[in-house]
Amino acid sequence: MKHIKSYISEHKNRFIDELIKLLKIPSISADSVYKNDVLKTADAIKISLEKAGCDAVEVCKTDGYPIVYGEKKINKNLPTILVYGHYDVQPPDPINLWDSPPFEPIIKKTKKHPEGAIFARGACDDKGQMYMHVKALEYMTSNNELPCNVKFMIEGEEEVGSKNLGIFVAKNREKLANDVILISDTGMIAKDVPSITTGLRGLSYVEVEVTGPNRDLHSGLYGGAVANPINVLTKMIASLHDENNHITIPGFYDKVENLSDAERAEMAKAPFSLEAYKKSLEIDAVYGEKGYSTNERNSIRPTLDVNGIWGGYIGEGAKTVIASQAFAKISMRLVPNQDWEEITELFTSHFESIAPTGVTVKVTPHHGGQGYVTPIDTIGYKAASKAYETTFGKKPIPQRSGGSIPIVALFEKELESKTILMGFGLDSDAIHSPNDHFGIWNYLKGIETIPYFYQYFTAMNR
Ligand code: BES
Ligand code: MN
Ligand code: MN
Repeated sequence: MKHIKSYISEHKNRFIDELIKLLKIPSISADSVYKNDVLKTADAIKISLEKAGCDAVEVCKTDGYPIVYGEKKINKNLPTILVYGHYDVQPPDPINLWDSPPFEPIIKKTKKHPEGAIFARGACDDKGQMYMHVKALEYMTSNNELPCNVKFMIEGEEEVGSKNLGIFVAKNREKLANDVILISDTGMIAKDVPSITTGLRGLSYVEVEVTGPNRDLHSGLYGGAVANPINVLTKMIASLHDENNHITIPGFYDKVENLSDAERAEMAKAPFSLEAYKKSLEIDAVYGEKGYSTNERNSIRPTLDVNGIWGGYIGEGAKTVIASQAFAKISMRLVPNQDWEEITELFTSHFESIAPTGVTVKVTPHHGGQGYVTPIDTIGYKAASKAYETTFGKKPIPQRSGGSIPIVALFEKELESKTILMGFGLDSDAIHSPNDHFGIWNYLKGIETIPYFYQYFTAMNR
């Protein structure tokens, strides 16, 4: 990979411009208003893969948004890397909290990114990180340095649960056969503390509905005499945690994997400043399950959080009303061995069982997925570690993440291969939040590091 550094410095402005062009298309998978934009993004990815040297690029239809698939085969005796990423993004709201429009990318300098960062929805998650792989491939094909076969599979429904990708993978096992799966859709600890993500949490996402009287009522005439669905819902939700912030759903922790003291001690070695963490969020204290550190709470422990809650009057001024219904969206982050469908059932029966008389409760599951942990004694991990060491001058730290990419567990099941999560984003990049961004340094460092993974993985497989 002798020319990678000079290739990047020669082409970096174009690399940035191309990413900016991609970020201008509002590929919001959750909102059907943006359907044409999501489809347009898939076409744009197809063209960019072709330009980067992929031979057979297709936009594969699904029942939802298409999957862009491309490959470059050089020799069937060489290993095959399957790159996965997603071209869809989260909705940008609340729009009024953005300093610049979410789909008009701009470059700004920040404390963490003195070289500048691109601000736009999806800059880091995942358009920027996905595009690093396209540019890394471009480098390798145009310099005759591609050491192995490669397949690309870029989907457009990750942010809404990857339902159709699961079907596509199960139907196309042969086509997708590979020796390792490579994904950049996570983060790293800091620019001077590279890390490889070795775990992802699972997810169960549900919506709940509490219904009381058959219509909205006058809160003076009826208040105190009938169950108020909002009062009831908030009380039910509050009861889902006890005074130690343990989740109270019976059976919830039954399958949770308990880490040994040695493993926990190893985890605690990762550099982390609680003060800086609190400062960055402008909070005076952290909060969570008793007996666990902040880094444990957000990676090796399961959680339950309300993501949205609504009902009743929220307009200007006051309206004296008891709403007929109240709603909430709830996510549970799960750890390895917890089965998301089983947890969804446990939640549903518990939530229904704690409903008081006078209301009815409905639970609707949305989507979910299993958690994932990857061993660090595989060729894939070792090759990734060596790649970081080459470009960062430091061995990366294995780190479990709290986020979820449910499809990863399914890849392992259907394709029988391990996934390596080489993430280059920072927690402060604010993915899913207003003003999300991706550092230009991180973007280029990713493009530089990825080809080394190809090189070392191929060499170690010989
Ligand atoms: N890329 C993220 C997941 C992620 C981010 C993992 C940072 C680790 C570190 C992904 O796009 C995402 O947002 N996943 C969703 C789940 C999905 C089913 C909607 C999540 O974690 O909320
Ligand atoms: Mn993502
Ligand atoms: Mn995301």
